[in-house]
Amino acid sequence: MTGKEGFDLVVVANRLPVDFTVGPGGEIEWKRSPGGLVTALEPVMQASDGAWVGWSGAPDLASEPFDADEMRLVPVTLSADEIERYYEGFSNDTLWPLYHDVISPPTYHRTWWDAYRRVNQRFADAAVAQAAPGAVVWVHDYQLQLVPQMIRAQRPDVRIGFFNHIPFPPLELFQQLPWRRQVIDGLLGADLVGFQRAGDAANFIRAVRRLRAHTTRGPIITVPGEDGRDRHVRAAAFPISIDSRRFDELARTPEVQQRSREIRADLGDPDIMMLGVDRLDYTKGIRHRIKAYGELLQDGRLDVEHATLVQVASPSRENVDAYQELREHVEGAVGRINGEYAEIGHAAIHYLHHSYPPEEMAALYLAADVMLVTALRDGMNLVAKEYVAARSDDRGVLVLSEFTGAADELSSGALLVNPHDIDGMKDIIVAAAHMDHREQRKRMRRLRRKVLTDDVARWSESFLGVLTAMPSRVPRRRPEDDEPGAPQDAREGAGPGWEADRTVPTGRRVEVSV
Ligand code: F6P
Repeated sequence: MTGKEGFDLVVVANRLPVDFTVGPGGEIEWKRSPGGLVTALEPVMQASDGAWVGWSGAPDLASEPFDADEMRLVPVTLSADEIERYYEGFSNDTLWPLYHDVISPPTYHRTWWDAYRRVNQRFADAAVAQAAPGAVVWVHDYQLQLVPQMIRAQRPDVRIGFFNHIPFPPLELFQQLPWRRQVIDGLLGADLVGFQRAGDAANFIRAVRRLRAHTTRGPIITVPGEDGRDRHVRAAAFPISIDSRRFDELARTPEVQQRSREIRADLGDPDIMMLGVDRLDYTKGIRHRIKAYGELLQDGRLDVEHATLVQVASPSRENVDAYQELREHVEGAVGRINGEYAEIGHAAIHYLHHSYPPEEMAALYLAADVMLVTALRDGMNLVAKEYVAARSDDRGVLVLSEFTGAADELSSGALLVNPHDIDGMKDIIVAAAHMDHREQRKRMRRLRRKVLTDDVARWSESFLGVLTAMPSRVPRRRPEDDEPGAPQDAREGAGPGWEADRTVPTGRRVEVSV
């Protein structure tokens, strides 16, 4: 805080961008955790006097706000019971499966919903306490969908953005949710609601029309206010990305290059190394991928002397039943395939249930001839982009599921697959394994142009650019506007009430197009 009341930019996300340890005397020590979101937002936060509101990841950990890397970090405390109901329950056993095409059946519990509302209110209150008059508040993801409305109820002066990192489902699925209208109202508290794909924004706008009967015109939703003042909310796609330059540079370092050679040597120098990197999540299509790979060994189209699959499956949400069942299935399948096809010195599948630091990930990407991203549904899939950013040698083939947000952007260079079509996926895996270097180079260059240009800094600038360009005030509704025949959007962009402030919190002006 710089001598005034509050921060100009407040980010609200389920997790804080730090890990913590408890010291010998019981004192809490925080260590930066270098996630994608913090990399994207750090420069904006530092330039604009920013605060980050989030949960530490542990139960009952109470801590005062503190400063780290020129950001104010504001911990929100959750009890063990709230973690069970709000995080593991409503967020990850209700919303997560519902928003990912009900791949696993969502569970609906009223007590989980109550906890979700209560915790969302706590995040909203913490954000309100940090926001300077007229601040920009940027709320992230499905865990916090009620927060925009809860903030607006207390602070009509602030500009509110919401970005959904996961898909937004079609109405036919979304309407299963007993609290669907409350969620729509929660999101409509924002001025700008951002999604990964145009299809997600379209799903949201359709849900708004059908469940709330608000007028919509293109990306603009008109929300009637009780005080006679309409608000315009914009819903649009802002596909997220990675810090591509950082990954590119990391993969060029001699240490990472050396490590990638070691990995291949340790694997027995296979002709073809295939790689899967995922959180161990049922949305990622790991079982489908392993099934296809096992069948290719069975058919003799691949063999363990020449090919191997490395599957990194990082532990995730281990208290949720569906994740425990997935782990059993995946580990059973890996065991069966290795038992059947592996030979001494030649595993069929190297299964690694760990998380790795970025250096090791970059080395794995560099070592892999074929990257398998076969998600059944995925908001974006940043692994696909990391693989591309690491391949400054223009080598390697990206096999990418049609059901990822990344497929909308990377179709010109990736081999697209439908992971439900096991035969089709097997053919594409074989085609990727045999692709000649000229074709690999041609495709990888196209991919790299896209990923290196549209990086995460561009993503955050574009979102904040649009948000801060939204009208800062709305005119009072005139009686004649409500008369039959009055043009629906006669008020948009016109009249003295519509002053747009086009300055993003970085102080830079950006061109916006959505
Ligand atoms: O993709 C949505 C997301 O919430 C990411 O933001 C996050 O990295 C990932 O899922 C894992 O989430 P968590 O471990 O916090 O449940």
